[in-house]
Amino acid sequence: MVHEGYKLKVNRPKDMSNLTEDEKEHLPLIKAPDEVVEGDEFEITVNMGHEPHPMQDDHYIEWIQLYFNGELVDEKTFTPSDEKAEAKFKVYANEDIIAEYQFENCYIHGYNVCGECEGKVVATSLTALGYCNTHGLWEETRGIEILSEDVGTGRACVWTHRY
Ligand SMILES: [Fe+2]
Repeated sequence: MVHEGYKLKVNRPKDMSNLTEDEKEHLPLIKAPDEVVEGDEFEITVNMGHEPHPMQDDHYIEWIQLYFNGELVDEKTFTPSDEKAEAKFKVYANEDIIAEYQFENCYIHGYNVCGECEGKVVATSLTALGYCNTHGLWEETRGIEILSEDVGTGRACVWTHRY
């Protein structure tokens, strides 16, 4: 069963540069590459939080979900006997994502074409939701770029053409 976390009130830090103790323990920390190539499978690690959250019988992290490009990848559940609230996810950079952006978002900066090699890149997001049985739901989002295969990593592209 997947929890319907998106229906709950989401807690977010008030000031990212000055996290409170509560926020440090609950804000999900997403470890991911900044860019991946379409068709690749890659691993994401999510910890809750930036400082380890307690895993005690009466106070623990129940679950962590990861969303890639707005879609649920998976949910990992925990019990108080788990040492820490850390979840690893396998994520697949579906080849269709660039094509979808090309079709739907061609007028915003989410989709770019290199003026040199005509390689393509889209900027999308990874979102982690984590649920503490005492302190509720917490969310963190970060960006990730998907490169078309003809760009590859270590590109020397010039993103002059923005559609
Ligand atoms: Fe908590």
